[in-house]
Amino acid sequence: MLKQPQQKYRAFAPINLPDRRWPNAVLTKAPIWLSTDLRDGNQALIEPMDIARKLRMFEMLVKIGFTEIEVGFPSASQVEFDFVRKLIEEKRIPDGVAIQVLSHAREPLIARSYEALKGARRAIMHIVNPIAPIMRRVVLGLDEDGIVELVRREAHFVAECAARQPETDWRFEYSPEMFSNTELAFSKRVVDAVTDVWNARPDHKCIVNLPTTVENATPNVFADMIEWMDRNIERRDGVILSVHPHNDRGTGTAAAELALMAGADRVEGCLFGNGERTGNLDIVNVALNLYTQGVDPGLDLSDIDEVRRCVEHCNQLPVHPRHPYAGDLVYTSFSGSHQDAIRKAFAARRETDIWEMPYLPIDPKDLGRSYDAVIRVNSQSGKGGIAYLLESEYGLELPRRLQIEFSQVVQKVMDAQGKELSAADIWGIFEREYATNDHARAQVSHPVIAEQGDGTSQLRAEVTLARQTFRVEGRGTGPIDAFVDGLAAHTGTPLRVLGYHEHSIGSGADARAVAYVELRIAEAQTLFGVGLDTNIVSASLKAIVSGLSRARGVAVNTAAQTTLA
Ligand code: KIV
Ligand code: ZN
Repeated sequence: MLKQPQQKYRAFAPINLPDRRWPNAVLTKAPIWLSTDLRDGNQALIEPMDIARKLRMFEMLVKIGFTEIEVGFPSASQVEFDFVRKLIEEKRIPDGVAIQVLSHAREPLIARSYEALKGARRAIMHIVNPIAPIMRRVVLGLDEDGIVELVRREAHFVAECAARQPETDWRFEYSPEMFSNTELAFSKRVVDAVTDVWNARPDHKCIVNLPTTVENATPNVFADMIEWMDRNIERRDGVILSVHPHNDRGTGTAAAELALMAGADRVEGCLFGNGERTGNLDIVNVALNLYTQGVDPGLDLSDIDEVRRCVEHCNQLPVHPRHPYAGDLVYTSFSGSHQDAIRKAFAARRETDIWEMPYLPIDPKDLGRSYDAVIRVNSQSGKGGIAYLLESEYGLELPRRLQIEFSQVVQKVMDAQGKELSAADIWGIFEREYATNDHARAQVSHPVIAEQGDGTSQLRAEVTLARQTFRVEGRGTGPIDAFVDGLAAHTGTPLRVLGYHEHSIGSGADARAVAYVELRIAEAQTLFGVGLDTNIVSASLKAIVSGLSRARGVAVNTAAQTTLA
């Protein structure tokens, strides 16, 4: 790279628009959308779509709700021509949908495009020609007058051809190619010439489509250019002002949004930003950005994964896992602090609340995504994510201190394995650590409780711990107290219950109780035990044995001094 890039590159000159209004504009309604997936998107594919893929794409675009669809470049290839014919002859275009075709502004190509559109109910004839200085000078060898003359002639031809096919409801579209690299005064001159020939009026509107054929400046510059055109072109009330941003600087979305603020009525682009080089404007992105501002985009993206699958199939290109709104990973938080905040915000949220969720700008459910992937656990994660997964997948509401304790257990596994853990992996670790399944190494069975006349309880139970089964008998203010008394006596280990939480999981015949006890053992260790059972007393006793069993394991692992059997 050059040390002095200014020797090779120059900045785009700012637009002189000191009273620009667009920075204060707020978007309150959706623009007219034009999908060019089947034209600009298709022509940029390594392997352009075959007819079957084109059809699948077309049907999906209709289903989402596009009312204007650019279906091809019929003068450029036979497949494109045949596809347009197929749509028309097989009556595949619903009422209310206008198909659009692109042609270079050259008579034979325009004529061929009209041939392709014969019999269409509603159609947009779109012509384009380059007008930028580099193209005038180097490619076309035409001066400004020459370009205007060419454009006038071709615009006349477009109107004449349309008059010969009166069965179609026509709209005309003109794109000055490389608008973003062209002097504004000249763009206006060309556009005014076209709208003059087409006699643009409020009851006979035409589309003026202004492309950033190649993005070359920050999006505010494009917005200035659009506002300038919006204010200065003639017959503005007979013009649908359209923009066609590309994404060469990675700001296609911003360029479209600022252009809408600057007065554009219509946006051309492709789903997920397919298209020439870095792609066309990503319509999904702009539409859902509007949605998250409370504006109905007029496109139904409520099954975004289905849309994505279709686009991936047709384009034979993957959608990036971090694509805004549609990527595999975009509703996933790995960071512990993010997970913690999301979990708390979900817990605090009521169904009818305005969406206000840390790290999630949109509710994944609105796009047909579940919350399953919202939190995933890797080595960057903390207790929040782990607790969230256990709660959302297995119904466990771990007390906060148990969350901290268990996250350290998970962290050790993670450090050893160095890979992401699924909810099922975490559940497996939990079951092993707290001996919660029915075949666990620590068990309590056949508890018998007798209430005594003095208000105390007498309890007998069979306990399996460290591969030994023994009988425990104790007395206390309640079953837990009595069990702790008996267990302490049998093992010779002082035991105290510091905290106790319980709740149920599931409902009806499948309902189970879960008990969490925080134990102080031999005045040396503090840890949790967890018990699960259909009966709440049994769940509590199991939780105590779970804690005791862990203390033994921890004692072995850490060589701490305990007097457990
Ligand atoms: O990018 C471009 O300039 C185009 C025109 C045909 C609108 O695709
Ligand atoms: Zn384009």
